Amino acid sequence: MKSVVLTGKRNFEIKDVNEPVSQNGNVLVDVKKAGICGSDIHYWEAGGPVGLVMGHEYCGVVTDAGDRSDLKVGDRVTALPISPCGHCPACLKGNPQFCPETWTYATGLSLTNPGAFAPKMSIRSNMVLKVPDTISDDEVAMVEPTAVGLHAVHLANIEVGCKVLVVGGGIIGLVSAMFAKMEGASYVALTETNPNRGQRATSTGVADAWFDAKNEDTISKLLEVSNGGFDVVLDCCGNTPAVTSALQAVRPGGKVILVGVSLDTITFPSIMAVMKEITVQGAIAYTKEEFQTCIDLMANKQIDMKRFVDDVVSLDRVQESFERLTSGTDSAVKILVDPNI
Ligand SMILES: NC(=O)c1ccc[n+]([C@@H]2O[C@H](COP(=O)([O-])OP(=O)(O)OC[C@H]3O[C@@H](n4cnc5c(N)ncnc54)[C@H](O)[C@@H]3O)[C@@H](O)[C@H]2O)c1
Ligand SMILES: [Zn+2]
Ligand SMILES: [Zn+2]
Repeated sequence: MKSVVLTGKRNFEIKDVNEPVSQNGNVLVDVKKAGICGSDIHYWEAGGPVGLVMGHEYCGVVTDAGDRSDLKVGDRVTALPISPCGHCPACLKGNPQFCPETWTYATGLSLTNPGAFAPKMSIRSNMVLKVPDTISDDEVAMVEPTAVGLHAVHLANIEVGCKVLVVGGGIIGLVSAMFAKMEGASYVALTETNPNRGQRATSTGVADAWFDAKNEDTISKLLEVSNGGFDVVLDCCGNTPAVTSALQAVRPGGKVILVGVSLDTITFPSIMAVMKEITVQGAIAYTKEEFQTCIDLMANKQIDMKRFVDDVVSLDRVQESFERLTSGTDSAVKILVDPNI
């Protein structure tokens, strides 16, 4: 079957790959839609692992239910891409995101488990969640990034009336801003280097204001509007300037949540964390409950994730879509891949 394969730095090729076969009780699906994620972009820019088939945010239709007796052919599903062992201390505590095996064999993020930039895929059966008919395929493909934002905001312990800053207006930043508001934040600001994305944060209403991260006076403006600093800052970029700005804009005693990922070592002025007694907290992935919560919120129409989907492309257009998403000027936030067009 035709799949999008990572072949080198910033390069995909369409290759013929064997179709998945029924084994280990896995669930087989036909892919309906798959999202392009900021994390995929990191792998694409790094150029490896060569041979990777990405796509860890998806909606699929079951063609073989594997060992899941509660599923049948034709059911629409999504799944957590992680691959926890189920018996290590982290797994037993309900934190599969910390399991040492979880990323090694993650779907769409490892060579062992190809992802959804292909017409068919095989999924670990205990990670599969059935979705209700009321959620569109596009929304189902948005569950994974939505759960990332929900988990980060849960860790932030936002209280009613908090002032929150989100650094970076990709989908993770936008979703984090959305949930910060839902948790009761009275003011949510967002910084961006790409004005088109910054404006998206205010036009969709997830942020009250956005600030251009490239302006020299942005930090002083942020300190002014927050009356001395934000209670919580969520970094949704993962680069040195972004994390530095988070430490600058948080109030003394405030909290910085690191959601953004960098494959390189980044540096930050730790003196600020010391002098302001800042709590710095990492946030990785989600729990199964948070994944399910996002499905429920979509089914109940409490959140609208459709507004962040900008385009749907064929497998042949994945390469150009990655180029578009890294142009630094495009307004697109989320591009979905449809292997059937
Ligand atoms: N921790 C997790 O579990 C988890 C899960 C998914 C994604 N991520 C990471 O979160 C980050 C965001 O993901 P995404 O899909 O939204 O990516 P994205 O690349 O679409 O968004 C990042 C945004 O940050 C902006 N930006 C860059 N430098 C900036 C700066 N100095 N100040 C303000 N904005 C800046 C970019 O213009 C871009 O819009 C990525 O690093 C991704 O790998 C983490
Ligand atoms: Zn993702
Ligand atoms: Zn484990």
